[in-house]
Amino acid sequence: MGGQIAYQAALHGFDTRLISRSDDRLRSASTAASALLRRRVEKGKLAGDACEAALARVTLSSDFQAVAGAEVIIESVAEDRDVKCEVYAQICAHADAAAIIGTNSSTLPSSLLESAVTHSERFLNIHFFNPALLMALVEVVPGPHTAEDAVVRSMDFARAIGKTPVRLAREEYGFIANRVLFIAIQEAMRLVQGGYISVEDCDLAVRKALGWPMGAFELSDLVGLDVVEAILDEGLRQTGDSRWEPVPILRDLVASGRLGNKSGGGFLNPRSE
Ligand code: 3HC
Repeated sequence: MGGQIAYQAALHGFDTRLISRSDDRLRSASTAASALLRRRVEKGKLAGDACEAALARVTLSSDFQAVAGAEVIIESVAEDRDVKCEVYAQICAHADAAAIIGTNSSTLPSSLLESAVTHSERFLNIHFFNPALLMALVEVVPGPHTAEDAVVRSMDFARAIGKTPVRLAREEYGFIANRVLFIAIQEAMRLVQGGYISVEDCDLAVRKALGWPMGAFELSDLVGLDVVEAILDEGLRQTGDSRWEPVPILRDLVASGRLGNKSGGGFLNPRSE
């Protein structure tokens, strides 16, 4: 997801550095984004020179020194507090004093992470949606110590990269979209778990009755079943509300390594053993 956010910023004229400790991830993010943008050119949706200029604006790096000089830094690593905190230590060692640090976390509000950053007044959740090159919404969620100026700059940044930001008054689990979406996805999973309907027919019903572009299961495969499970587990942990408790069919798929599109199979297109 970090890759798509980087290329979205580049499309809107920002010199962008995409940082990962994994060369493979850097290469695959760059290859996937290049393919998507060149497809837009083929379809006449993007000028060829604008596409090439955007691709050239992204510098790939495995060194956190590359955050030096950045006005906005978006962390989009695994939903693991320790991993994120390690990354913040690296970022804060090299970031400019005025830089905004946004976490794209969907499960960890900045208040649970801020002890790992040097300037909590410039730290907040800036939450994108999959696929980030397409989905318009960005949720901007200040923590208890985020300065108003950082919120305003984050909203401006989201607009400047072509997104529609919404601002939450304060932290709430799931923010807005995930709060609505994942409780609905859970209900779809309970129907399938209970044997009322197949995965395919449930998706068909949701698409045709509610106008969702993807059914609940197709969307879960896109997001990643491990990510879906983490959102639900953390929702249960942070709210104590049993509606978030993951259903066994989800747990079983994750345990068997079927994580959705990224692993070649999830609820749909399961791998043949
Ligand atoms: N990444 C980037 N681009 C993609 C893509 C992907 N994974 N999948 C499809 N696209 C592009 C295609 O290349 C195509 O681009 P083009 O028109 O330039 O060729 C365009 O999207 C349309 O593709 P399709 O015609 O094949 O498919 P759709 O018309 O169904 O659109 C979609 C694809 C926009 C992904 C649409 O199905 C959709 O809106 N789905 C719902 C997505 C959603 O709900 N996201 C939120 C998930 S929750 C989340 O992210 C929160 C986080 O915290 C977990």
